[in-house]
Amino acid sequence: MNKLYDVLGAGIAAVDDLIYVSDFPPVDCKVPVHGSIRQGGGPACTAIAATGSLGGRAAYVARFGEDELSKYIASALESRGVDISHIVDDPAGGPYHSIIVVDGSGHRNVFYDPALYRVVAAHDLPDMLIRSATLVLLDHITEPSLTAVAEKVHSLGVPILGDIEGRSESAINLAALTDYLIVPKAFATWTSGTPDPRDACAFLAGTHRLATVVTDGAEGCYFSTKTDPAVRHFPAFKVDVFDTNGCGDTFHGAFALAVARNLAVGEAIVFASAAAALKAMAAGGQRRGWNALPTFDEVLQFLQATLKEPEKSSLLEKLGDLRNPAQSTDSGVWRGPRHCPNHGGC
Ligand SMILES: Nc1ncnc2c1ncn2[C@@H]1O[C@H](COP(=O)(O)OP(=O)(O)OP(=O)(O)O)[C@@H](O)[C@H]1O
Ligand SMILES: [Mg+2]
Repeated sequence: MNKLYDVLGAGIAAVDDLIYVSDFPPVDCKVPVHGSIRQGGGPACTAIAATGSLGGRAAYVARFGEDELSKYIASALESRGVDISHIVDDPAGGPYHSIIVVDGSGHRNVFYDPALYRVVAAHDLPDMLIRSATLVLLDHITEPSLTAVAEKVHSLGVPILGDIEGRSESAINLAALTDYLIVPKAFATWTSGTPDPRDACAFLAGTHRLATVVTDGAEGCYFSTKTDPAVRHFPAFKVDVFDTNGCGDTFHGAFALAVARNLAVGEAIVFASAAAALKAMAAGGQRRGWNALPTFDEVLQFLQATLKEPEKSSLLEKLGDLRNPAQSTDSGVWRGPRHCPNHGGC
C-alpha cells in the first residue's frame, strides 16, 4: 500500500541567527556587524526540509509553542512543502535558538540556547501517524534521546533512518534500533574505537540492518548493506564548495526520500551525495541556509551533467519514476494534534 508520507521526521529543530564580523574580538569589545541572517537548523528538521524541498511527501513532529521562534521554524518547514499539522501544541516548547558568529575567514562560534526544546514523547506520534509513513527519520545529539519513539516505530514495523551524533549510551541504543544508520565519521570512529571510517563502518554494520553509512565530508561516504555487507566507498562529487554546513542533513533527507521511493541503497547514496554537493555549492554563494536546499530537478540536472554511462541512464530512468510516485492509497487524511485535541483517539 502506498503511504501518505514518504518520510516522517522527529528530532531537534533549531533557529540559527548568524552574525558576520570581520574578526573575533577579545573580551569587552564592541565590533560592527556587517551582515546577519536567520536560518532553520537542527539535524532532523533540516533533513525533513531537504526531503520537502526535493518534492517528497514529508511531515514533521515536534513540540512547539506560539513564540516567534516556533512560528518561524514551522513556517520555514511549511514553505518547503513539509506537513506541520502533526506538530504538538506545547506553550512551553520551541526550537533550539543559536547565535552563530562567523568571522571573515569562515570560522564560527556557536552560542546555543536549548531552553525551549522539548523532546517529543512516544505518545506524540500516534500509531496511525507512524503507519502513514514509509520511513521515520530520527536524530540524536543530546539527551533525552528519542529511544522510546524509536522503540514504538520499530514495534510497528516502520523502518527507521537514524542520524546520530551524540556520544552516549542512549545514542548507541538508538543506533541499534535503526534500519538505515547514517552517521558522521566522528560518531563512527568514537563508537567503534577505530580512527578509520571504513573500519568504523564495518564495526557498525555488525549490528545487522538494511544499511550502515558513515559520511566523511569531502571524502564521501562508506556504506555496507544487508544484501552486500562488504564496505564500499562512494567519493563525494567534486564541486566548488561555498558552505558545507548542513550537507550531512541534506544527505539524510535525500537518502530517506530515495529509499522510501524504493531506490536501492547504492542508488540512494548517489542521489543523496548529489543533493549534498549542491547544498555545498550553495548556487555559488547566492543561496544560504535552507534556501540552498536543492530541488529534485536541480539534482536531476546535476547528475545528468556529472554521471557517466551506463550508470547515468539507469539511475536517471529510476529517478524519473521516483519523481512521479503513485498516489497514496491511504484512506482519508490523518488528522494530527493541531486538528483534534484527543489526538490519541481520533
Ligand atoms: N566539501 C564537500 N564537497 C562535496 N560533497 C560534500 C562535501 N562535504 C560534504 N559533502 C557530502 O555530504 C555528505 C555528508 O557530509 P558530512 O560527513 O560532512 O556530514 P555531517 O558531518 O553530518 O555534516 P552536518 O551534520 O554538519 O551537515 C558527504 O558524505 C558528502 O557526500
Ligand atoms: Mg550531521
